[in-house]
Amino acid sequence: MTDQSYAPTSEFAAQANGTADLFDAAEKDFEGFWADQARKYVTWSTDFEQPLDWSDAPFAKWFVGGQLNVAYNCVDRHVEAGNGERVAIHFEGAEGDTQTITYADLQKRVAQAANALTELGVNKGDRVAIYLPMIPEAVVAMLACARLGAPHSVIFGGFSADAIRSRVADAQARVVITADGQHRKGKVAPLKAAVDAAVTGEDSCVEHVLVVQRTGADVEWHEHDLWWHEVVDKQSDQHTPEPMDSEHPLFILYTSGTTGKPKGILHTSGGYLTQAAYTNSIVHDVHPESDVYWCTADIGWVTGHSYLVYGPLANGATQVVFEGTPDHPHQGRWWEIVEKYKVSILYTAPTAIRACMKWGQEIPAKFDLSSIRVLGSVGEPINPEAWRWYREHIGGGSAPIVDTWWQTETGGIMISPLPGVTTLEPGSAQRPIPGISAEILDDMGEPFTEAEKVGYLVLTKPWPGMLRGIWGDNERYKDTYWSRFGEKYYFAGDGAKYDADGNIWLLGRVDDVMNISGHRLSTAEIESALVSHHQVAEAAVVGAADDMTGQAVWAFVILREGASQGEVSDDIVNELKAHVAKEISPIAKPKSIMVVSELPKTRSGKIMRRLLKDLAEGREIGDSTTLTDSSVMDFIKSNLSKS
Ligand code: WT7
Repeated sequence: MTDQSYAPTSEFAAQANGTADLFDAAEKDFEGFWADQARKYVTWSTDFEQPLDWSDAPFAKWFVGGQLNVAYNCVDRHVEAGNGERVAIHFEGAEGDTQTITYADLQKRVAQAANALTELGVNKGDRVAIYLPMIPEAVVAMLACARLGAPHSVIFGGFSADAIRSRVADAQARVVITADGQHRKGKVAPLKAAVDAAVTGEDSCVEHVLVVQRTGADVEWHEHDLWWHEVVDKQSDQHTPEPMDSEHPLFILYTSGTTGKPKGILHTSGGYLTQAAYTNSIVHDVHPESDVYWCTADIGWVTGHSYLVYGPLANGATQVVFEGTPDHPHQGRWWEIVEKYKVSILYTAPTAIRACMKWGQEIPAKFDLSSIRVLGSVGEPINPEAWRWYREHIGGGSAPIVDTWWQTETGGIMISPLPGVTTLEPGSAQRPIPGISAEILDDMGEPFTEAEKVGYLVLTKPWPGMLRGIWGDNERYKDTYWSRFGEKYYFAGDGAKYDADGNIWLLGRVDDVMNISGHRLSTAEIESALVSHHQVAEAAVVGAADDMTGQAVWAFVILREGASQGEVSDDIVNELKAHVAKEISPIAKPKSIMVVSELPKTRSGKIMRRLLKDLAEGREIGDSTTLTDSSVMDFIKSNLSKS
């Protein structure tokens, strides 16, 4: 427990969607509880017969026999219910252009896009890759795919051509949707060029590239390219949604694993939508008639999928979609948007909050933020200092903060306070939400409840939004998540502990995966990018604690041809940083690169990243007795103090 905790006010509790009785209901009848949520939050064209089929564990089937159309649930049913004039999206462009899109407008746009994709030969089951900036077409494209039952694979707009190529090939996408460019801090950055580089070659599975005109930038044009406006705008705005099986694939989203090859996390329809809508209601406390909700995540990450597209739209919420960055054209841009649209619920990442803290509290103080009533945090642990700053300077000293723990794999929020029920403990995600069960295990795989003892977080029951596997690799799915502690437990990969009050504190990844500004990156992936540079012989990468980004990438490289420590120019370091940015993404760019002559290795040849991490975090170097050559760390250390 920290020195202060925060109970909900009675006014907040009285209006909250998430109530204490949900815990009892879920406890009493787990499957019945989820069946109730599925019927409450989702409209089924055929009701399901069985809530859960776990007979083929760990491959779950939820809401068996049920049929639904996800896009119908996110759009049409709100229009049918008489809410067509409600604003679905207040779009705020990076350069200040805006669009107001009602649910009726959204229905037409999604229908036209679905008709266009059909004309291009996209059928139920075909995969479509989406590589777009944060513009309305991104949401429309995702919903059009969902409407057709064509699983989308959204690729974050900051990823490189190589990342697109491997993801497109792995999913065998037939169509890629991109834009002519993207706005970035007052400049136009290329976007389509990366797609061009990724889909060239005889063997590419891509038949069409659909290009949204966003910036007017010149683009190279190929035979398979089509302008979005030329293909979509002429389509009929009527389209009948086809019901899909509850387990029909909705999307694939790639995330880093401990090997260099990203995992295509597979999510399906009925269970995923149920959990996204349910959590958006009980955790964010969205009241669609009165709230203006804003999730700042990019659609390229799971947060954008679940809490910008599927959850809030299924609930019929009004939301802000923002294309730009918080500091352009000034560091108060977010707060200007909150004031302008009277945002009442804001969901963002600790790294952004820490950046705002650094810029100073006088910046948000210039704006009227009194509309805010709920704040959320996601992606990494939020340190209590940032938590308190967030509540004080953004939440008017009174807004509850929901610190939500979940993963690409879980599809939706798993551990979080309920803002009308939980007494908030800054820095802790606290308890599993109703319907979710977690434990912390020791090294032997035994659950424990002692306070302050560090163990491994596991989930002990299937849940509706859970991944249904890794695209094309069932074995890797079982190995990665269901083997470390046996097939009874889903191993999340996070370290965790309880405090004396039974709150869960998440302690970061226990495997070789880093979390940079809420984005998951694997050490192996960055190492292999470094080694792909012609001057690098070997590389070790660690994620070191960083005030601003949570963790930062530190790389240690051995150059080819005996380039020794000390005489290395800045040029090579800068070149390697740029190389990683190009190979993976600017997010993966190392904060520090140190050229060394040896790396600390065990006798079996495994790099001891733990020691490098100690060094990068400025700690006493831990036990190095298993090193082949214990002088290696002294070398590296003395060199570090020189630089
Ligand atoms: C990993 C999942 C969840 C969507 C964005 C990231 C870390 C996430 C929290 C939190 C502490 C958190 C975990 C998790 N994480 N939320 N509230 N407190 N850690 O999705 O890329 O799949 O990463 O992010 O380490 O395993 P992701």
